Amino acid sequence: MLRAGGLVALPTETVYGLGADAENPAAVARVFEVKGRPPTHPLIVHIGGAEHLGDWAEDVPATARLLAERFWPGPLTLVLRRGRRVPLEATGGLETVALRVPDHPVALALLSAFGGGVAAPSANRFGSVSPTTADHVRAELGDAVDFVLDGGPCEVGVESTIVDATGDTPSVLRPGGVTREDLEAVLGRPLAVHSTSRVRVPGQHPSHYAPRARVVLVEPEKVVAEAEQAQELGHHVGVFLPPSLADAKVKAHAVVEVPASPAAYARGLYGFLRELDLQGCDLIVASLPVEEGLGLAIANRLRRAAGPRPSGTDTV
Ligand code: TXA
Ligand code: MG
Repeated sequence: MLRAGGLVALPTETVYGLGADAENPAAVARVFEVKGRPPTHPLIVHIGGAEHLGDWAEDVPATARLLAERFWPGPLTLVLRRGRRVPLEATGGLETVALRVPDHPVALALLSAFGGGVAAPSANRFGSVSPTTADHVRAELGDAVDFVLDGGPCEVGVESTIVDATGDTPSVLRPGGVTREDLEAVLGRPLAVHSTSRVRVPGQHPSHYAPRARVVLVEPEKVVAEAEQAQELGHHVGVFLPPSLADAKVKAHAVVEVPASPAAYARGLYGFLRELDLQGCDLIVASLPVEEGLGLAIANRLRRAAGPRPSGTDTV
């Protein structure tokens, strides 16, 4: 299917991707079309192993090689100078390319059998919540995708960490499945996090990763009062109940008990948001977790979900 220029949704450890042959500009164009994503927004090219790095990137700094060796396969995306194999269609016209080796047996088997690179953004419509099961992909993209490869629910649940590794001083463009602390331990120095950076990172649009329901963030101790007040005003309120309030009774339309472990929270996050949409919530009240470890990525996604939306629409 990939060789024929088709679109294949594939499982990764982070979220499901909407894959196309990275070297086929027509197939890549269809990815943008199906996602409803502006063609200037670059895709991640998935490759089968760090040993192929030289085929897809040029002038790879030693630091980038170190990160690739240490974290691939895994939820780390490296932005590097574009190699000749990468068409400009896949990079949105940029001279850099985002590369990653996913840590999922099905994705790795596919990449190895295919032999090339698979350009794949998350398999959701532009701006909405990333899919973490094959059912999410089918529900969101339906017949627009030629094949959905079901590899079970994603283990990590939030997207990869994107690191700008073009220079000698790497920085984080999007927090994700590899923690800042783990990166810093390998690099032996502190790492800047530029969630809004000079480099265009469309995943950093104010409203992104957003469910249909409006998301409101409040301090953990205010979650119950805020939710009940909105429910009384006639909203269908979904509540993300923080672990510190696990036993609290809330008068709301739907309640999600947030797992105490950040890994379990990350794994469940997008499914929770989808579930509250399905249950007909129009408002979700949540609080931010502590921003360390995976909490940094979770907080980033919640902030984006709660971000301002284009006027006149409820969903991007
Ligand atoms: O975990 C993930 O990263 C998932 C799975 C499928 O691998 N993919 C994913 O893709 O989240 P997407 O397209 O939803 O997000 C990719 C992000 C976008 O924000 C894009 O702007 C950024 O990567 N990106 C891609 N190429 C870039 C480049 N050359 N420079 C800076 N950012 C880039
Ligand atoms: Mg995405």
